[in-house]
Amino acid sequence: MARTIAELAGALHDAHIRAGRIGLVPTMGSLHEGHLSLVDRAVAGVDVTVVSIFVNPMQFGPGEDLDRYPRDLERDRALCDARGADIVFAPEVAELYPDGGALVTVDPGRLADRFCGTARPGHFRGVLTVVAKLFSIVRPDVAVFGRKDLQQAVLVRRMTADLDFGVEIDVAPIVREADGLALSSRNAYLSAAEREQAVGLVRGLEAARRAYRAGGRTAAGLEEQVRAEVRSRPLLDLEYVGVVRMADLEPVDPAGPASAVLVAARCGTTRLIDNVLLDGAP
Ligand code: PAJ
Repeated sequence: MARTIAELAGALHDAHIRAGRIGLVPTMGSLHEGHLSLVDRAVAGVDVTVVSIFVNPMQFGPGEDLDRYPRDLERDRALCDARGADIVFAPEVAELYPDGGALVTVDPGRLADRFCGTARPGHFRGVLTVVAKLFSIVRPDVAVFGRKDLQQAVLVRRMTADLDFGVEIDVAPIVREADGLALSSRNAYLSAAEREQAVGLVRGLEAARRAYRAGGRTAAGLEEQVRAEVRSRPLLDLEYVGVVRMADLEPVDPAGPASAVLVAARCGTTRLIDNVLLDGAP
């Protein structure tokens, strides 16, 4: 495990010299099978897999869960080892932000003015800034992200293209519980009653997908499928639902094969997000 940029550079030295392909899986730790599926993908495709574990203060807003975000570095490290990751990079906050924060940051542009960006101002600036830093520190050939955070994956793709980072961005499918709930570190916050109702998001997305397959194409009609499932569960409070073009998250109406439905809702104090491709993998 590397705790500093210098230690990591030492560990990566050989790989850079041998020109082996380096894969990066950025995470905030508290790893679950969703994260580990990304590690598996990297391990299968590159010579050296680096998993970063860093709860990035810059992407949390005031009043969000930075302080209570679950942390268990020893467990995470053992999981990464077991899945064949080569290096775990787990820096302290002061290692990445020696001055307390970044003065120059990555502007996510108008793609952040919608969906999660509206609910969490500054969030995507924090995400893109830390991802850019990790790309500079690790210099990966490939970085693997989950489609669970679709807006994040699209923004990282755009940043990488627009700023010519030369990193291949691989976006992996969503890993779900047996009842369909998308795995998330934040699911640990849910009470038993909330956990039962949390499936309302995926039930709504499934209903939208069925409606699409049955010929439903209007954005309002597909969105209503999601709203109805969320409405029928009193512990859920819908934040947004949208039908978008996968590539750039622009709203589409009517929906087409490259469209996705995005949803976010509060379940008690926990914020949950999910999405589905209307004509692809669930
Ligand atoms: P974190 O929430 O820890 O997620 C790390 C990666 O795991 C992200 O790419 C996310 O989309 C993916 N992931 C989470 N749950 C998943 C699931 N159920 N199925 C598949 N993939 C899943 O996202 C972040 O951290 C941070 O914003 C980060 C990119 C590390 C920057 O700080």
